[in-house]
Amino acid sequence: MDFRHRVLKGEERDALLTDVIRRILEEELPVSGEARREAWEKGWGENLRRFVESGGEPEQLVPGYIRPGQLLRFAGEYIAPCQPDFLWNFYTVYRRFVFEEYLAEAGQIFEFGCGPCTNLLMMAELFPGKRIVGADWSHASVALAERVAVVHGLRIEGRLFDMFRPDYRLDIGGGAVITLNALEQLGEKHEAFLSYLLSKGPAVVVNSEPFAELYDEGNLLDSLALRYHRKRGYLEGYLTRLRELEAEGKIEILGTKRVSAGSLFHEGYSLVVWRPIRKPVPPEKNLSCRSGTRDRRDR
Ligand SMILES: C[S@@+](CC[C@H](N)C(=O)[O-])C[C@H]1O[C@@H](n2cnc3c(N)ncnc32)[C@H](O)[C@@H]1O
Repeated sequence: MDFRHRVLKGEERDALLTDVIRRILEEELPVSGEARREAWEKGWGENLRRFVESGGEPEQLVPGYIRPGQLLRFAGEYIAPCQPDFLWNFYTVYRRFVFEEYLAEAGQIFEFGCGPCTNLLMMAELFPGKRIVGADWSHASVALAERVAVVHGLRIEGRLFDMFRPDYRLDIGGGAVITLNALEQLGEKHEAFLSYLLSKGPAVVVNSEPFAELYDEGNLLDSLALRYHRKRGYLEGYLTRLRELEAEGKIEILGTKRVSAGSLFHEGYSLVVWRPIRKPVPPEKNLSCRSGTRDRRDR
């Protein structure tokens, strides 16, 4: 893939900065949360229609908000890519790395907020033996997951699931959990979903999301990203909460990585990888939990 690009400098950068500031301050931007459910339904419904009409072309899954040929932010600068699909290609390489690095060991993988199902498709092709479950609160997204499975003959399942009101009947059974730009939509209301994950005890959780905590408020591009992040009502306090849970000995954070790439407005792909800590069962309890009671009586 061609990742050549030109870094914007001088007057060109100033003009762009002025425009970004104006848009963040003056434009009305959609705020994430409960009220956006219908908009997601409509968007994925459109992808579903195009996917079915095309007879199952994967290109028809690409979300409408991925617009080729845009100026971007990359490694702390604004850039003009030489190739229009720079961001989508970057995302493809990045996801492939993340999936192979963190999900290869798991027997089953659960993506929450799976939307257009491009990640499910990529995971199912990379790991043909694994059970891949895509969960989303949009009916169209679930239908898309099921359709992708049938058309491409892959082991993918769709599941209706609202992260604001987790359905505890969905078991994760020692599998891996991944979210990509999905927790961002919860704003500060991530506790219910976090409690669900902690109670289900997945082997590993991979969150690729915009994290407010990773921006440096003293840096111009970062401070603008933070303003944009807050105006859109994106994920707030999640990383801080994970750090608290780690201090309480409930989880282990395996790594946090700021990924300095994204649209003109923010960085959407930063990474935290963590796992719940399973408390060892004391030996006494261990005995009585299994057939220990009967063993003792027998003796
Ligand atoms: C920006 S899209 C990302 C989709 C996909 N993960 C990807 O990387 O292409 C956000 C997704 O989160 C879903 N979503 C938002 N709030 C949700 C909630 N409370 N429960 C479940 N899904 C939700 C939306 O329907 C949408 O599919």
